[in-house]
Amino acid sequence: MRRILVNGGKKLNGEVSVSGSKNAALPILAATILTNGLNTLTSVPNLLDITTMIRVLRALGLRAEYSHPNTVRIWANHNIKHVAPYELVTKMRASFFIIGPLLAKTGFAKVPLPGGCAIGSRPVNIHLKGLEALGAKVELEHGFVIVKAKKLKGDRILLDFPSVGATENVMMAATLAEGDTTIENAAREPEIVDLAEYLIKAGALINGAGTETVQITGVNRLQAADWKVIPDRIEAGTLMCAAAIAGGEVLIKGANLQHIEATIIKLKEAGVGIGEEGNGIRVKAPAKLKAADIKTQPFPGFPTDMQSQLITLLSLAEGTSVVTESVFENRFMHVHELKRMGADIRLEGQSAIITGVPKLSGAPVKARDLRAGAALLIAGLRAEGETLIEDIERYIERGYEGLDAKLRSLGADIRELKNIAEYEEEPDQ
Ligand code: UD1
Repeated sequence: MRRILVNGGKKLNGEVSVSGSKNAALPILAATILTNGLNTLTSVPNLLDITTMIRVLRALGLRAEYSHPNTVRIWANHNIKHVAPYELVTKMRASFFIIGPLLAKTGFAKVPLPGGCAIGSRPVNIHLKGLEALGAKVELEHGFVIVKAKKLKGDRILLDFPSVGATENVMMAATLAEGDTTIENAAREPEIVDLAEYLIKAGALINGAGTETVQITGVNRLQAADWKVIPDRIEAGTLMCAAAIAGGEVLIKGANLQHIEATIIKLKEAGVGIGEEGNGIRVKAPAKLKAADIKTQPFPGFPTDMQSQLITLLSLAEGTSVVTESVFENRFMHVHELKRMGADIRLEGQSAIITGVPKLSGAPVKARDLRAGAALLIAGLRAEGETLIEDIERYIERGYEGLDAKLRSLGADIRELKNIAEYEEEPDQ
């Protein structure tokens, strides 16, 4: 287990680059199942979740290789297995992305139901309803979802909620269906646009990705394609929060401003100085952070994946803020840990009422999900004393490429502890 110790109080200064987007890379990796030939994907972050998806593809019989820097080569053909391994799929919910492409390419897929998850029950009913609308027969058997269809047929599909994963799964499946598919109430996240553009390069006919109506005309075959994954908007936003909280001035290079507009608006409201510069964003921490109210929503609303980081920031802002989580039902677990660091936060249903405090104090804390891990790490940057975060492979490195190293390069005092005894032996904890 990797654990880090953050010694708070150091300002951040300098430049840092954003890695490729995990949430864009994962469905594109799954989409290669639909193709024939060699796909070369670049700007793929080197993360555990990506490695898990590569292992899923290999288990299905595809040849997939990761090579530095950030390149994945995948050879796809018709020789594909139908059953996804339980051990891998239950490890990462995003492996469920393979069900749509596998069904469309081979007519049959057997994929374990992804397990429950720390941020809510996260069912897959919308994915399956969408595949059913394309003519698939769906069965649940011994914890596996089995989907069958000799040939998928395009139809009009109205999603009950603009689910990112369901939009991606149905869009991928529809590329090889017979006729036209229209997805109404589709999710509009930038990752959907990136996936659609990769598929279009591979020969798919897709219109309207990034709007609430996506139209797909099925084709018989997709060829392989080379693709560069978009920058990670959540990593960019997390780095912006880190700079705003720790103090100092940081240039975040490679971030796409349009993808993080909602985060920028809220950070500006909190008093953070933000300006566009070249192909990046300059963030200047204010002398005092101000309160702001936030409600998470599907894109282009404020992203749920930035909620935890903003709660950390608002814990240190002057005044009272209300943060309402409307996408996931159980995404406030980091709040209890922040309170142990001295934050004043009250939970009322789906809202967190945050009264800013002048300082946080370092503590041993536990993350339960990826973004909570990042939120606690950036809290540690501004806390008095040392903050210990354990199991960072699982809760930070799963989704952030070298976040601790990037923060260190900006001046943060973060060191890895080889042994927990090093922490326990230190005085004044
Ligand atoms: C994706 C992102 C995740 C982000 C989320 C919302 C990836 C790999 N992950 O997750 O980081 O937090 O979008 O922006 O891209 N739901 C159902 N039934 C379904 C599907 C979803 O009820 O079949 C519900 C979920 O429980 C959740 C909400 O819809 O409450 C949003 O989920 P969804 O948009 O599907 O998120 P993911 O694709 O899982």
